[in-house]
Amino acid sequence: MDLHISLEGRGDLSARIYRQIMEAVLDGRLRPGERLPPTRELAPRLEVSRNTVAAAYDRLTAEGFLEGRSGAGTFVRAESRRPGRRRPSRGGVRPGRRWETPMAPPNDRAEFTFDFRLGMPDVRLFPLETWRRLVSRELRPASLRSPGYGEPAGHPALREAIARYAGVSRAVRAEADDVIVTQGAQQALDLIARVLIEPGDCVAVEEPGYPPARLLFQSLGARVVGVPVDEEGLDVSAIPRAARLVHVTPSHQFPLGTPMSLARRTALLAWAERSDRAVVIEDDYDSEFRFSDRPLEPLQSLDRTGRVIYVGSFSKTLLPLLRVGFMVAPASLQGALRTAKQLSDWHGDLTTQAALARFIDEGLLARHIRRATREYAVRHERILAALHGDLAEWLALVPSAAGLHLCTRLVPGRNVDVQRVVASARGADVAVESLAAYCAAEPAQHGLVIGYGAIPAERVDEGLRRLATALRAAT
Ligand SMILES: Cc1ncc(COP(=O)(O)O)c(C=O)c1O
Repeated sequence: MDLHISLEGRGDLSARIYRQIMEAVLDGRLRPGERLPPTRELAPRLEVSRNTVAAAYDRLTAEGFLEGRSGAGTFVRAESRRPGRRRPSRGGVRPGRRWETPMAPPNDRAEFTFDFRLGMPDVRLFPLETWRRLVSRELRPASLRSPGYGEPAGHPALREAIARYAGVSRAVRAEADDVIVTQGAQQALDLIARVLIEPGDCVAVEEPGYPPARLLFQSLGARVVGVPVDEEGLDVSAIPRAARLVHVTPSHQFPLGTPMSLARRTALLAWAERSDRAVVIEDDYDSEFRFSDRPLEPLQSLDRTGRVIYVGSFSKTLLPLLRVGFMVAPASLQGALRTAKQLSDWHGDLTTQAALARFIDEGLLARHIRRATREYAVRHERILAALHGDLAEWLALVPSAAGLHLCTRLVPGRNVDVQRVVASARGADVAVESLAAYCAAEPAQHGLVIGYGAIPAERVDEGLRRLATALRAAT
């Protein structure tokens, strides 16, 4: 790699070359064993004499930063890097006020044998060979002929495929032109908020709810208000009149798992119509995995006045690392959303998008979802059995027929320290999450959320046995 050396200004040229190479070695930009350019190449590049560069190299060699190897050149010495000599991070420029306090959602990457955490589909179910074939095909010269940037709304073939897929599987009403492909559902939420929210505007989110959405809206200066969720879904009567945006998960409330009743869906749409300027985000992040019951009509297809933006994600059906999601917005917002997407990142990775279009068109997504649903259904059943058996003493199930997790509440009157249960379960190689982690309001609700995306069916029973032990110990 070419090291950037600046000789602008005045002063001893050799000393400046010496200092910049030394700093690059110390802060790790030049790594041990890396070869420096020969003096005969570097000198003309810097427009200095060869002796000037050679003097700098000699000094760095004498001080132990570099070593000459006869016939091979000059290299960074293996033991040259002094740990801890990074640039000082104190002082310096500060981020804006809203970014001063850390607010990133948790990203716990520890590994557990019995992993009941949320948000993770099973990578072992991912059809890797097929995916590799489809991506390689898109990386052939003939597929890469496009002259420049693509359309901000995403690869046309994928938008077609998504419109058809969401129409058939979820009854979402969309043409290809209505679809904007995003980097996961999270970018769809970001673009929607940026297009609709001014600092100080009110955004209503579910309570308990999805922290990355709440934090995102806060980061944009919104006044975020939590609206309670009961067994029918969001309590529409508690939405602040001033709300400009309402974020809901009607198919499978996150994290409780309950579907929003038809009566509430209708009430929410009526509320949005009355408010005149409110927009509802229907976040349908994992309803493809369904174990009983027919899904209810999405808000988007019940909406007759263009108030709903439907957001979907391939993070659960495929993998979160692909970062593919999409939204279907009413025509009145599409232009602004496409512009926001373009200003944000032009468009996503078109190789992945083209491969996904084929994956959907060849029926492989539908097949994968059928296969994965069969597998997840076994895990879902085993967890239900434990919740009706051993765990019933402490945990009451919140009924749910879809998705990749089940939510439970502490049995009323049970005095259990849930944080202690989570910690002692971890000590027994079991990862499980507290419902309180998804509550922003005080007092938090007490319970456990049990995900089954990551845990193989044969480990479920033992994992839950260990969880029962942790519950018993914390009672
Ligand atoms: C409510 C909700 N929305 C969206 C997502 C998916 O986000 P993304 O597509 O950005 O990975 C999740 C993932 O857990 C979620 O729980």
